[in-house]
Amino acid sequence: MSDRTLTFIKPEAVDDGYAGKIISIIESAGFKIIGSKMIRMNLKTAREFYKVHQEKEFFEGLTEYASSGPIFILCLEKDNAVEDLRKLIGATDPEKAAEGTIRKLFGKTIRRNGIHASDSNENAEKEIAFFFSKFELLQSSSHDIH
Ligand code: CMP
Repeated sequence: MSDRTLTFIKPEAVDDGYAGKIISIIESAGFKIIGSKMIRMNLKTAREFYKVHQEKEFFEGLTEYASSGPIFILCLEKDNAVEDLRKLIGATDPEKAAEGTIRKLFGKTIRRNGIHASDSNENAEKEIAFFFSKFELLQSSSHDIH
């Protein structure tokens, strides 16, 4: 399903008080919030969430950072949601992100880059299921869950 994606605002951006501004940018770009929650992942959960990166040299730092404080998680709906959100947040490294993108505006380093977003339709569905039960997501005509 290409019309849903998963994003979360990372610990430092939440701590800096940027959650509201980032959510406003996302909504203004036409995404509908169909689920939201603020949680703090423990290290085990962060390692499970990012397990696709477990062989990378940055895995330990990434998972320690992701579990270092609360994150604000959103499930979003829009036509072409995955691709459009990736464009809106910009490149992984804030220094390389285009002007006006969320990572350019609020990211600090490649690790502390402000926001995560699913990178494919397949991963979006996995990541949505990782954080949300079907009862925590708004019903829509294209996702009749009840
Ligand atoms: P995210 O979209 O959450 O998905 C994986 C994360 O790994 C990515 O954002 C970055 O924060 C982090 N990451 C990717 N490449 C590197 C790197 N070279 N060094 C440190 N962190 C990285």
